[in-house]
Amino acid sequence: MSQLTIKGGRRLEGEAGIQGAKNSVLPILAATLLTAEQVELRGCPRLRDVDASIRILEGLGCTARWEGENTLEVDTRSPGGCAVSEALMREMRSSAIFLGAILARCGQAELSYPGGCELGPRPIDLHLSGLRDLGAEIDDAGGVLHCKASHLRGREIVLGFPSVGATENLMLAACGADGVTTILGAAREPEIADLQNFLNACGARVSGAGTSAVSIEGGRPLHGCTYTIMPDRIAAATYLCAAASAGGDIFLRRAREEHLSTVTAALREAGCTIRSDAAGVSCACRERLKAVRPVRTAPYPGFPTDAQAILMAALLRCRGAAVFEENMFASRYRHVDELVRMGADIRVSGRAAVVSGVERLHGAPVRCTDLRGGAALCVAALAAEGETEISQTAHICRGYEDIARDLRALGADAAWAES
Ligand code: UD1
Repeated sequence: MSQLTIKGGRRLEGEAGIQGAKNSVLPILAATLLTAEQVELRGCPRLRDVDASIRILEGLGCTARWEGENTLEVDTRSPGGCAVSEALMREMRSSAIFLGAILARCGQAELSYPGGCELGPRPIDLHLSGLRDLGAEIDDAGGVLHCKASHLRGREIVLGFPSVGATENLMLAACGADGVTTILGAAREPEIADLQNFLNACGARVSGAGTSAVSIEGGRPLHGCTYTIMPDRIAAATYLCAAASAGGDIFLRRAREEHLSTVTAALREAGCTIRSDAAGVSCACRERLKAVRPVRTAPYPGFPTDAQAILMAALLRCRGAAVFEENMFASRYRHVDELVRMGADIRVSGRAAVVSGVERLHGAPVRCTDLRGGAALCVAALAAEGETEISQTAHICRGYEDIARDLRALGADAAWAES
């Protein structure tokens, strides 16, 4: 497996384009099942999780073909199955998102239970109770979900927590239900709005995404379309934090600050100068960063849990101490031990982590524990003296097309090496 080597201590200078959003393309790939025509997805990032989604679609009898670097043509005209294998479910925990789409298209679905992941337990109780509200019969005995829905009916569904995946799953199932479904307490992430835009481009009538009440007028036949995936706000946050960590002046094409405002607010507070316009976002950092007020992860528009490790890595050499509070996932500090190997001073207690800024970080052999934890190691390595060898990079490839390519475009010394 590839190892990533980063030589730190170099200020960043340069520009990079931001890939299409992982968390947008995955539900949209599931949503292609709702059409019985061809869909052309532009700005589709080349990611391990996208490959896993393509394999799920192929397992269901659909075809997908890359046209050029980032255009994916998906043909869902004749799906031949309604089951997703356990191996594919394990490969990508967010594969539960296919449930609503398969049910809407085929009237039945069989998926293995997603179980836990690197971040802790990954329950899907909200997905299942919402689908049951729409009329699905779900038997989840023995770790396999057997779902049947001869007739889905639209209705009001109240989510007890604004789960991103549950909101998306229910939006997809509701497209195949008769009548209007309203999801109250819906997640408000920008990727939900991207899914709404995609569905509407296929002829659906979905409204309210971005607010906590999403309405879907179901039962409309959907057609194919050409759609461009929104830019990845967490990839953008990663590279802004890279510049904050190493110092420098960078520009990220296509990044959209309105999707990132809690992250840019923290970086400004730390002393970075951030500017944005329709073309992208720039970040200049000339001095040692200052500690910031406590960072508490929360559903959008709160601070994203996916940027917690990354901002933490940028603040390892700050003046003072920064407190983090992780409220979304149970085990989201697994990167901390690896950062400590590089000289960081971090203390974890339950949901809280306290980073006391150190003068210097040093390169070390470290391993990725999860996707964003892996990205955080890259961000820290850019500010460390000497070389950092990062192993178990398959985690990073789930969500970044080529992090070494992008960091090099920004002036870093980063390279892949076979281990
Ligand atoms: C999505 C993102 C992930 C991000 C997360 C939170 C995708 C592909 N992934 O994951 O990158 O970190 O949002 O912003 O979009 N929960 C339940 N029951 C459920 C569903 C969720 O208890 O039925 C809990 C989860 O355990 C977690 C919290 O709700 O503690 C948030 O989960 P959710 O918003 O569903 O995240 P995902 O959609 O899995």
